[in-house]
Amino acid sequence: MKSMLKDGTLNEKVVLITGGGTGLGKSMARMFLNLGAAVAICSRKMEVLQKTADEFNAEYPGKTLPIQCNVTKYEEVENCLNTAVAHFGKVNVLVNNAAGNFISPTERLSHRAFDIVVDIVLRGSYNFTLATGKYWIENKIKGTVLSITTTYTFTGSAFVVPSACGKAGVLAMTQSLAVEWAKYGIRLNAIAPGPFPTKGAWSRLFPDELQHLFDPKNKIPLERFGEHEELANLASYLISDYSAYMTGEQVVLDGGEWLQGAGQFSFFKALSPEMWDKVEAIVRKGKSS
Ligand code: HXC
Ligand code: NAP
Repeated sequence: MKSMLKDGTLNEKVVLITGGGTGLGKSMARMFLNLGAAVAICSRKMEVLQKTADEFNAEYPGKTLPIQCNVTKYEEVENCLNTAVAHFGKVNVLVNNAAGNFISPTERLSHRAFDIVVDIVLRGSYNFTLATGKYWIENKIKGTVLSITTTYTFTGSAFVVPSACGKAGVLAMTQSLAVEWAKYGIRLNAIAPGPFPTKGAWSRLFPDELQHLFDPKNKIPLERFGEHEELANLASYLISDYSAYMTGEQVVLDGGEWLQGAGQFSFFKALSPEMWDKVEAIVRKGKSS
C-alpha cells in the first residue's frame, strides 16, 4: 500500500483499532505503522490478532500490540485501553472499526440476533469512545476518534436493519460529541465506505452464490470496488494533525454508490446514445404540443 502522506506523519500517534486483526482494520493499521504510528489491535479472536501482530512486528519491530477484547463488555474495554496505555505510555487515537453484520429479512431475526449486531456496532463504539474520552479528558490529551460507519446512515437499508440502527447511532454519537468535547481538543470523524472487498463482509453480505444475481459493482457509478489503500489513506489523513480543523464529519468513500441509489433518474444510465437520440426526439415533440 502506498501512502499519500509523508513519512513520519503519524510518529506521535498511538492508535487503538478495534477489529484491527482483519479486513479494513488490518489495512488501516498497516498504513498507520508505515507512517510512524504504534498500534494496539483488539478483537475477540486472539489467534487472529497474534498472527497479524507477528506479521506487522516483523516489518515494524515492537510497534504492534494485540489485545483480546470483546467490545460489547465495558470492563474488557477499560482493560484493553489500560493495557495499551501501560505498554505504549499513551493512546491518542481510537478507531472504532469492529462490526457485526449479515443479511436477513428482519422478521426472521431473533431478538438475540438483533442485539448482537447492535451491541457490537453501537455499544462497542460507545464503550470505547466513553472509556477513551474519560482517559483523554483526565489526562488532557487532545485525542481523535475515527469511526467506520456506512452510507446507509443517511438512508437506512433493508435486510441489514440491526446494522443500520447501530451505524446511525455511531454517526449521531460522532456529531454530538464533536460539539461537546471540542473544548477538550478532542475530534471525532467517520468514514462511510461503499463496498471494499473483505472476507468478513463478503461472506456475510455478498456471498458468491448470490453474486451472479446481484453484483454490487453494478450499483457503483465508478464501476469498481474500493481499494483498501484508498480507505487507509483517508483514515490516515483523518487521524493526522492535517485534519485538525475537521470534526463531526462523515466522509463518504463509495465511488458514488449511495447517490446513484438515491437519485430518482439514475436508471437512465442504461440508455445508449442512440436511444437518447430517440428519447430526445420524443421529449422535444412532447414539449411543442
Ligand atoms: C439469522 C442469524 C444469522 C443469520 C447469526 N444469527 N447469523 N440469524 N440469519 N445469517 C443469529 C444466531 O442464530 C443467534 O441468535 C444470534 O444471531 C447470534 O449469533 P452467534 O453466531 O451466536 O453470534 P456470534 O458468534 O457472537 O457472531 C456474531 C455475528 C457474526 C454478528 C452473528 O456474523 C460475527 O461474528 N460477525 C463479526 C464480523 C462481521 O460481521 N463482519 C462484517 C462487517 S461488514 P439465536 O436466537 O439463535 O441465539 C459491514 C459492512 C456494511 O458491516 C456495509 C457494506 C457495504
Ligand atoms: P471484518 O474483517 O469482518 O472486520 C470486523 C472486525 O470486527 C473483525 O476483526 C472482528 O474480529 C471484529 N469484531 C467483531 N465483533 C467483535 C467484538 N464483539 N469485539 C471485538 N471485535 C469484534 O470486516 P470489514 O469489512 O473489514 O469491516 C470493518 C469495518 O468497515 C466495519 O465497521 C464495517 O461495518 C465497515 N464497513 C465495511 C465495508 C466493506 O465493504 N468491507 C463497507 C462499509 C463499512 P473478531 O471476530 O476477532 O472479534
